[in-house]
Amino acid sequence: MTDIKYMVGVIGSGAMGSGIAQIAATAGHEVVLYDTNESALDKAKTALKTTLARLIEKQKLSEALADDILKRTKYVSSLSDFKDCGLTIEAIVENLSVKQKVFSELETVVSAECILASNTSSLSITAIASACKKPERVIGIHFFNPAPLMPLVEIIPGIATDQQVTKEAKKVIDSWKKVTVLAKDTPGFIVNRVARPFYGEAIRIYEEGFADFATIDWALKEFGGFKMGPFELMDMIGNDINYTVTETVWTQLFYDQRYKPSLTQKRLFEAKRFGKKSGQGYYNYSGGVSMPSPKKDTQLGNDIFLRVLIMLINEAADALYLGVASRDDIDLAMTKGVNYPQGLLKWADEIGIGKVTDLIQYLYEEYGEDRYRPSFLLKKMVKANQKFYH
Ligand SMILES: NC(=O)c1ccc[n+]([C@@H]2O[C@H](COP(=O)([O-])OP(=O)(O)OC[C@H]3O[C@@H](n4cnc5c(N)ncnc54)[C@H](O)[C@@H]3O)[C@@H](O)[C@H]2O)c1
Repeated sequence: MTDIKYMVGVIGSGAMGSGIAQIAATAGHEVVLYDTNESALDKAKTALKTTLARLIEKQKLSEALADDILKRTKYVSSLSDFKDCGLTIEAIVENLSVKQKVFSELETVVSAECILASNTSSLSITAIASACKKPERVIGIHFFNPAPLMPLVEIIPGIATDQQVTKEAKKVIDSWKKVTVLAKDTPGFIVNRVARPFYGEAIRIYEEGFADFATIDWALKEFGGFKMGPFELMDMIGNDINYTVTETVWTQLFYDQRYKPSLTQKRLFEAKRFGKKSGQGYYNYSGGVSMPSPKKDTQLGNDIFLRVLIMLINEAADALYLGVASRDDIDLAMTKGVNYPQGLLKWADEIGIGKVTDLIQYLYEEYGEDRYRPSFLLKKMVKANQKFYH
């Protein structure tokens, strides 16, 4: 239980908001959950009861604590019920002007000390904060889906955010037993930026005709130890969500070629082949259709794995070089946010910085595309014979 006593307000009772409310109430806060849509609130209320009942059944929660959590959670249809909050977390539709409107309205309700956080995945915290009279109390607190189960939370100060606010946000989320990492307010923050090549390079390998989806998935699992292959994972996340994140990161990074989305995924998105939830994506999930078998060629599998891994390491190195986050936080984010078998920078040390850099340089020279440009940090480290960890 947290020893922080203030009330927590959550705006938006959809997938993320309802999970965040559950975490806060479980940690001991009084929680108010607000949504403009009555049926979304009803759904969240029913879902919380079902989740808690399941936890009791599995003996992960006592009936008394479940009762307390239910009593501590209030479902409200007006922001005026947020006046006693010490922290609010917004998890509404991913639209800048709608979020800005909610933040400026919130400011008229809450006390001067209240922290206003957004769970946005892709919008600039600084842009959201610009709608406020006190942008210094606005911060990003980015949970992963499903919020109660995923340990990682990215804490993202905007350019105006007060250091005390960052400290307090970290303190409260740590007290909810989450793993926090600090990220600069840049597109995709840590995880959604550094993970892009896992999807993008896998699709590129497929588009070039080197291997099919099943073989690429097999290669990453077999040789990399990833729990899921990129195509399985995109189908699970949803190709609508995954494509949109890719496109957003690409456009917000001023169309840097390294993040360019693929037509393969765009077509799936257009065809509403979102993946598991729609019955078809890269794979067909309708009953009776069996999954295709990979071509288990060791040399091919190793090559595929190494090409994707090298691109991921290059991205992680660049994120470090550009101050997106610290070495430790980049490695922690990828192991706790997307379950990578180990941190990418640690992995780079294991392979050898020289070998990593040679491989990315080889791709750069072969293709002549900016997409494969080696991070300056890697080149610098080779010259100085350095490792990420000493
Ligand atoms: N779903 C994910 O995987 C995920 C992960 C991390 C962060 N996020 C971010 O979390 C936020 C919410 O995502 P979600 O998946 O929970 O969405 P969702 O569609 O499941 O829920 C959004 C809820 O917000 C409500 N809403 C919309 N406008 C509102 C307003 N003006 N005031 C109050 N309520 C309003 C909707 O009625 C809906 O219930 C987004 O910013 C998204 O980028 C999503």
